[in-house]
Amino acid sequence: MKRVLSGIQPSGQLHLGNYAGAIRQFIDMQVDHEMYIFVASYHALTSVREPKVLKENIRQVVIDYLAFGLDPKKTHLYLQQDVPQVTELCWLLSCVCPKHMMDKATSFKDKVSKGLSASIGLYTYPILQAADILGVDPDFVPVGEDQRQHVEITRDLAEAFNRQYGPVFKVPDLKIRKDAGLLPGVDGQKMSKSYNNAIDPFMAEKPLRKRIMSIVTDSAPVEEKKDPKKCVVFQIFQAVAGADDPRTAQLAERYQRGGMGYGEAKQALFELILQEFAAARTRREELSKDPGYVDEVLRQGAAAANEKISAVVSRARTAVGL
Ligand code: TYM
Repeated sequence: MKRVLSGIQPSGQLHLGNYAGAIRQFIDMQVDHEMYIFVASYHALTSVREPKVLKENIRQVVIDYLAFGLDPKKTHLYLQQDVPQVTELCWLLSCVCPKHMMDKATSFKDKVSKGLSASIGLYTYPILQAADILGVDPDFVPVGEDQRQHVEITRDLAEAFNRQYGPVFKVPDLKIRKDAGLLPGVDGQKMSKSYNNAIDPFMAEKPLRKRIMSIVTDSAPVEEKKDPKKCVVFQIFQAVAGADDPRTAQLAERYQRGGMGYGEAKQALFELILQEFAAARTRREELSKDPGYVDEVLRQGAAAANEKISAVVSRARTAVGL
């Protein structure tokens, strides 16, 4: 069985971008892959400085993973801080990482320009991500488009290490959904936990509707024919329903025919989200009331991840002469 690893940072409430780019792939893949899905808590320290907030975010990501449909019988679900060996692996990789490889990483510059402090942790963030990945010998890393460069750096680092020390790491493949680029937020920029532009499918109905009604559109009048591909409302609809879903084709046709205002498209998106995530919303409420169950899922996930990562770290230590 092919193995999969991926993770999400607990830097805020999950949103439809995380679902469309990442979680949806996890759910599809857990049927016939060996899955390692984790909460990137060390990574979140580059942006979250409030211990209480971090703790709550970590818990919420686990609950959301489960609510969206990750099945702990099929997926090892764990917290990064429960496998601290990844920080040792990060060091071993740092020592074969040329500085220019970090200099060319775009996420550091992007995040600093958005106001994050330019810490060394933020600068070397991609090396820790490489350690998360290489630590479980995965075949595939399913992520959204914005993580492409990080997975490419991971592959480069694995190759650099293997060139120096022999074949220690498996070089994994990137997996990005063909029909899903980067999902835009309500302001038309990339939907992000930290840009205040995200749609959280677990929001209460009233604020959820308000959020959807706030999506930016152009000022084309109702009767005009519209290009669905240029509209954020349509892009989000397509990401939730799926590109091949007949509801997506129907809505595209309404845009192209003319006679539909954006308010109507937004209402359709609101109803779609309530319908698609009805079960997830109920499950999330139940999970929030069952901390014992969540703890047990994490205990088992940590045990499985520890076993795997310890073996890889031990292989890497031996290879370098420790
Ligand atoms: P993070 O937490 O920013 O995002 C988690 C996942 O969601 C995807 N994503 C999106 N996809 C489409 N449209 C969007 N607007 C959008 N926003 C987010 C991301 O591509 C990602 O797949 N560095 C990672 C966390 C990480 C990780 C790893 C991932 C740490 N170690 C090892 C994979 C493997 C991050 O910050 O993702």
